[in-house]
Amino acid sequence: MDKNEAQHLINELVTKLNDHNYKYYILAEPTISDYEFDMLLEKLAALEKAHPEFLLPDSPTQRVGGTVTSEFISAKHTYPMLSLSNTYSEGELRDFDERVHKIIDGKVEYICELKFDGLSISLTYEKGLLIRALTRGDGESGDDVTANVKTIRSIPLRLNGNGFPDLFEVRGEIILPRPGFEKMNLERIEIGENPLANPRNAAAGSLKMQDSAEVARRPLDAYMYYALGDSLSFETHQQSLQTLSRWGFKISNQTALCQSMDEVLDFINKMAKERDKLTFDIDGIVVKVNSLEQQQALGFTSKSPRWAIAYKYKAEQVTTQLLSIDYQVGRTGVVTPVANLKPVQLAGTVVKRASLHNADIIAKLDVRIGDQVFVEKGGEIIPKIIGVDLSKRDLFAEQVVFPESCPECATKLERQEGEAANICPNEDYCPPQIKGKLEHFIHRKAMNIDSLGEGKIEILYDNQLVKNISDLYRLTYDSILGLEKVFKGIDGAKDKKLSFKKKTAENIINGIEASKTAAFEKVLFAIGIRYVGETVARKLAFHFKNIDAIIAATDEDLQEAENIGEKVAGSIYAFFRKPENLLLIENLKSAGLTMVAEKQAELASTNLVGKSIVVSGSFGSSKRRKELEEMVAMNGAKLSGGVTSKTDFVVAGENMGPEKRQKAVSLGIPVITEAEFLEMLNK
Ligand code: IVH
Repeated sequence: MDKNEAQHLINELVTKLNDHNYKYYILAEPTISDYEFDMLLEKLAALEKAHPEFLLPDSPTQRVGGTVTSEFISAKHTYPMLSLSNTYSEGELRDFDERVHKIIDGKVEYICELKFDGLSISLTYEKGLLIRALTRGDGESGDDVTANVKTIRSIPLRLNGNGFPDLFEVRGEIILPRPGFEKMNLERIEIGENPLANPRNAAAGSLKMQDSAEVARRPLDAYMYYALGDSLSFETHQQSLQTLSRWGFKISNQTALCQSMDEVLDFINKMAKERDKLTFDIDGIVVKVNSLEQQQALGFTSKSPRWAIAYKYKAEQVTTQLLSIDYQVGRTGVVTPVANLKPVQLAGTVVKRASLHNADIIAKLDVRIGDQVFVEKGGEIIPKIIGVDLSKRDLFAEQVVFPESCPECATKLERQEGEAANICPNEDYCPPQIKGKLEHFIHRKAMNIDSLGEGKIEILYDNQLVKNISDLYRLTYDSILGLEKVFKGIDGAKDKKLSFKKKTAENIINGIEASKTAAFEKVLFAIGIRYVGETVARKLAFHFKNIDAIIAATDEDLQEAENIGEKVAGSIYAFFRKPENLLLIENLKSAGLTMVAEKQAELASTNLVGKSIVVSGSFGSSKRRKELEEMVAMNGAKLSGGVTSKTDFVVAGENMGPEKRQKAVSLGIPVITEAEFLEMLNK
């Protein structure tokens, strides 16, 4: 294929794939299978690899991410991002209507929209291309999260049709639909991380992740509700929404055009009943004056528009009886009280259990067994007990006594000063802690032994074949063949039998064997040192280069590694002072696990790992420019000659070519000075 053909094919594939993307994510009417889509995408990626000069900024291959941002750069909003005033009652809504009519003579039409419970985003489009995405920040300036936002499939990289101005801004909300949120939390629990409280926090956390490839894996979605720009000419808000929809944005069809406050209230009441059926969370309804001329006449206060108001739904509440309390021991030894409730219907689901968090909360609520308790489901997924109906308390209601010893292994519980958690300190022998550590060890993000899982670990543990992670490497085919266990079904589910037949046993042994090649940073993460997550493990591995250096490091040495603070350093230091842990490391070493970091360890820092950087212009002398270029490589980045949409930033000296600068600006790529670059390296 010659160059012309390649370019033509790339252009065609980009248009075609973007159209399929639109059909899938916006219209929810796909016309090809996922497999066909993936095949076309692969073809495009291969062509782009062979001809990087033809890579288009709106290529769907950009959606998979790959840019790593060590620090988000803050930028000023063209128009400040204001908030909305809130109300909780019909009376306040009618007051709003009255205020509007004091300024506007004649008829006012309102448009009601869902109040999406996510985080607001401002998108700038230039000549139809998404060039910048900013978070709300403090309303005046926000963080540039363009690379991460580009991975969200329902946000168009290039607009459909025509008729859009050269430059304008769209605002909307990034959300994480509930099914994706629940899946994400299950994964977190599996690797011993705390589940996130609600989809909003999860969405916010996702958008601030450093690795955009990781963001691409989160099922984020986005709804738009506001267009801003000098050359937009709509007459009504409804018109602006319809136009945004034509240009390719996702707009909710749950809106209502209302001629009166009574109609507004009808919509609010209707959605109150239907909100549980949505796949994402809303926390109210936004009521906006539909006519843009009237909006302009109403104007803004310093904080919010006078033409809009948010009606917020109150959290739903029910009362039910507290039957008993279970105490669950987690992987890290934290003992969590969980309330068993008389089943009750709440916000569309039957609630049987609620978290009581810790001993302090129990004391504060003064909750007793048999009490009628108020249960609420707000933004949080797990319902909360928020109070006790004292008028219904039985005279003999039993006081709750938090156990003094571990319900699993009977060790006396401990409580650190200033911490609310009661912890079982028997980390090496307490059954749920051992099983939890093993589950963490085999996790996809750790040693990735996917032939093992929770149930299989339990079988190995019950048969006393593994008491700690290094025992896994002593297992043999013969020692595990034929083991089995029946797992009781919970909540009426069927019992499930698991047995290690030939193939299963073989897979387990092979999986364990294969894990010996896992990289050092994976091993460090897998051994489960408190506070050592994936990122810290990576930083540790590249800073110290091998396990012996980490073991020998003092508290101060550890804090010298990037991103490692007092608390984390203290935990690592303490871990390697325990003889049991040193023995564990010895055993893992002799089993043949990787205890030395590869290549990257030679870097001066990992500040720029994964970045693609252009150095352009003159910096006083040609020697200096060479030095800067070397620094790019020494800190883990790729030096590239030309600016493309893959470029993360440009270090500009004097007389940088105007074309290059223009290209960087139009792609929304930051252009920084030598001083700013050096500052980045010293972080
Ligand atoms: S309009 C100038 N419409 O609610 C006002 N906001 O409490 C522009 N939100 O910061 C906002 N759904 O993040 C608008 N349909 C909707 C919304 C909405 C959710 C968020 C938005 C805003 C916050 C204010």
